[in-house]
Amino acid sequence: MLVLQLRELSLKNYRNYDNLELYFHSDLILFIGPNAQGKTNILESVFLSCTGRSHRTPRDRELIKLGEEEALIRTRVEKELGSSEISILLNMRDKKKVLINKTPAARLGELMGHLNSVLFSPDDLKLVRDGPAERRRFMDMELSQIRPRYFYYLQQYNRILTHRNNLLKEIQGKPSLASTLPVWDYQLAEAGSYIIQQRQLFSQSLQNIAREIHSRITNHSEALTMEYKSSIPFEEGSLQEIQEQFIRELETRHKDDIARGSTGRGCHRDDIHFKINGIDVRLFGSQGQKRTTVLSLKLSELEFMYKETGEYPLLLLDDALSELDRDRQKMLLEYIGKVQTFIALTDPTQIPDVQTSSRQVFRIQSGAAYPEESLSF
Ligand SMILES: Nc1ncnc2c1ncn2[C@@H]1O[C@H](COP(=O)(O)OP(=O)(O)OP(=O)(O)O)[C@@H](O)[C@H]1O
Ligand SMILES: [Mg+2]
Repeated sequence: MLVLQLRELSLKNYRNYDNLELYFHSDLILFIGPNAQGKTNILESVFLSCTGRSHRTPRDRELIKLGEEEALIRTRVEKELGSSEISILLNMRDKKKVLINKTPAARLGELMGHLNSVLFSPDDLKLVRDGPAERRRFMDMELSQIRPRYFYYLQQYNRILTHRNNLLKEIQGKPSLASTLPVWDYQLAEAGSYIIQQRQLFSQSLQNIAREIHSRITNHSEALTMEYKSSIPFEEGSLQEIQEQFIRELETRHKDDIARGSTGRGCHRDDIHFKINGIDVRLFGSQGQKRTTVLSLKLSELEFMYKETGEYPLLLLDDALSELDRDRQKMLLEYIGKVQTFIALTDPTQIPDVQTSSRQVFRIQSGAAYPEESLSF
């Protein structure tokens, strides 16, 4: 019996669903159907219940069924210590509301940690292919789920950064305002140093796990390393040292920042570098190496969360199998049995051949889900 299980999912006016009620009693749940029927929408709603946001869009309104005012996503989860219920209410004109066990959460941050998940989709290739913003998002999502404090500091940081950038632009027209900059430097560095420190620890920890997994996937031919590259130079990485360096960096760049009207250094500029056998994957990696790197990262996320929280998260696989060769598929599927897994597929012949104690299959068609009893395996 798995420690963490999603038992119920109910959607009202979410994306292309009017009303959906699903009950899960298995370790492996498959959603099968042609394109554009609503498979990803279901996985997205589960991810939303874990993190408070969609993995596809920062705009909550897009999640509400077209023409409707409100959407409701409700999940019931079972853990070792009992069951809990998370509801998210989206409104066209209002901020989203989160209820945990029917009690309204004062802040979105309270949601973090109740239900964790790792989502894997072909889009994740962006992680190694695209610019640093994707990798920062990856770290932020991961750390926010396991450390409510991180989420809080991240929100703080972004707020302060916006203020500071606005001030920098105002100073261009009114130089005397520059005397207020140090206050913002200090506040930015205070929130930012915690973020940098956590990301640094996270990338070290993840690398230890990913190195082993990657080596296994590639039959011991590739060594994966990752390194947090901060725009703030620091050495031993204590909170105080990072904060002092952060303030120093900001101070020495006041002139540049004012001229540009934005903040040139800080954790909003940082990155992680992935290397295979010492060579940068983003710049020189083959398509297959990039894919394997992402797979290693995703599997490491699962292990990392387990290490940090003592329970495996849900695994959400969005069409992720079709992109992988047999051996890599096998590695990924080894986790089924350890974690409750939800897979979206277009092609029923792709149903993975794994041994699990139980599985459920839903056929997804035009915003409705039909349990399939008759599919043979
Ligand atoms: N806010 C919304 N209101 C109504 N319908 C929506 C909304 N957002 C998305 N849709 C519809 O949802 C469908 C897409 O759903 P989804 O992305 O889950 O498809 P899918 O089954 O994963 O398809 P694919 O196999 O192509 O990935 C589309 O028909 C789209 O028009
Ligand atoms: Mg999809």
